[in-house]
Amino acid sequence: MQFAVLFYLFLAGNLYSHLEPVDGYKILAVYSYPGKSHYMMTNALIRELVESGHQVTMITAISLQKEDLGSNYTEVLIEPVYDYWHDVKLNLGAQHLFELTRMTIYDTLKMLEIIGVKTTEHALRQPKVQALINAKQTDGIFDLLLAEQFYQEAFLALAHVYKVPVVTTSTLDHENHMSQMMGLISPWSFVPHGFMPFTDRMSFLKRVQNSYVSFYEDMNRLLNYFPKMDAVAREFFGPVLGEVPKVKHMEREISVMLLNSHAPLTTARPTVDAMVSVGGMHIYPPKALPADMQVFLDGATEGAIFFSLGSNVQSKDMPAEMLRLFLQVFGSLKQRVLWKLEDESIRQLPENVMVRKWLPQADILAHRNVKVFITHGGLFGTQEGVHYAVPMLGIPIFSDQHLNVNKAVLGGYAISLHFQSITEEVLRHSLLQLIHNATYKENVQRVSDIFRDRPQEPRKTAVYWIEYVIRHRGAPHMRSAGRDLNWFQFYLLDVMAFVAAIVLAGILALSLAIRLLMGSNKKHRKVKKN
Ligand SMILES: *[C@@H]1O[C@H](CO)[C@@H](O)[C@H](O)[C@H]1NC(C)=O
Ligand SMILES: *[C@@H]1O[C@H](CO)[C@@H](O)[C@H](O)[C@H]1NC(C)=O
Repeated sequence: MQFAVLFYLFLAGNLYSHLEPVDGYKILAVYSYPGKSHYMMTNALIRELVESGHQVTMITAISLQKEDLGSNYTEVLIEPVYDYWHDVKLNLGAQHLFELTRMTIYDTLKMLEIIGVKTTEHALRQPKVQALINAKQTDGIFDLLLAEQFYQEAFLALAHVYKVPVVTTSTLDHENHMSQMMGLISPWSFVPHGFMPFTDRMSFLKRVQNSYVSFYEDMNRLLNYFPKMDAVAREFFGPVLGEVPKVKHMEREISVMLLNSHAPLTTARPTVDAMVSVGGMHIYPPKALPADMQVFLDGATEGAIFFSLGSNVQSKDMPAEMLRLFLQVFGSLKQRVLWKLEDESIRQLPENVMVRKWLPQADILAHRNVKVFITHGGLFGTQEGVHYAVPMLGIPIFSDQHLNVNKAVLGGYAISLHFQSITEEVLRHSLLQLIHNATYKENVQRVSDIFRDRPQEPRKTAVYWIEYVIRHRGAPHMRSAGRDLNWFQFYLLDVMAFVAAIVLAGILALSLAIRLLMGSNKKHRKVKKN
């Protein structure tokens, strides 16, 4: 008995010493896509890693120097910032981003492909990045490759250069195409494609569309996108690796994927332990607002509206008549309006409207007087709206924004408007509903309570899994064996073909036997007659 207790204590002690990192780990992070919004999640994670005592060397398209991360953070900055919108506009024939509201899903996939290949190539061409690829001594320099799960797959080859496991972070939710790389199936019957405005309950026609789009994307990745990314990987990693693994295979080596999602914003679907929901990582306890904004919001006795279309789409690029329409409606309300408008010199501003080039979005949403959030429906913004329980007016522009807003509408805490068809009356009516009809607030409060209810705050969860992968050398025990099967094995087509063959052979044998039997019966009868 005593021995058992002693043994248990010995085990527990050992277990504890195992879980405590002896030293900080050395992490190579690669974030080559210069999309500002993505850095809300990335910055939060890098900060948390450095503050947890780890050393991070980061290839990044946007500098984190402002974050003041100290000496354990080393930056490899990609300069100059690649202007990918130029390529997108050129390829899709759009003049400004508001035109992207007309973009089809096929355009979106094309856009992501262009963005991915161009920004990845641009980053790989940098001499500083080349130096990391061609490092002579690579053993033990890094413990892990942290990469973005966003059309930058060529960089996964760095894991082969440094012989380290990989963790990726996605600013998106669990996308259907991520399932195969993790050895999973996404049933298209109830898992909507990330860029379709559907939910998990689809009519027959929606299931047809959902299946078609998901299948199209899979085929497009396999036949069109991967060859392009493979060529990039070969060009830059060929000289050092010789044989560069195919992107398709490198993707399947990812140990853990950290996803920007969390219930109830994500619906129940098949998943594996290696896909971890860390949505809301970018949300910190609210900080004090700049004095003028604090006064403005404190004095909003009838409530305030916060209006921001995010960092890609700029309100100032709106057609002039739309800008006038918004000002007209805002001017007619009793509420105060705080608007992220990049052109602060705008004339004839109503007294109840304040515009600023930049606004601390989350801290504003945390203010008790904010009653409505007018948003383009980006994932980060909608998460903040949910976190602080603010009903939303969604004006989605492109990619996953439609889905995010759609979810919010179905959750009963948002109204969605199509940008091109907004009128004064519709806008005013929608805002007044969101302010005065209590159901929106009640619904968002309920969703918020679920979103915030977790065993551990998301930044801590993310760091835990990164350390876990290093501690357990890539954590191969979490790897679904589905990743190593051929597509026909994975979907059991070989088994189905086998069963079909047996059934067919059975039927054949049976019909043959019947024919033989009948034949011999006839002979028998003939013999009898004779
Ligand atoms: C930097 O990393 C080293 C090694 O992990 C650690 O000992 C040190 O405390 C870290 N420094 C800071 C300022 O966090
Ligand atoms: C409040 O909103 C709900 C949901 O949109 C709607 O069903 C209800 O009729 C609204 N109530 C009023 C008084 O407008």
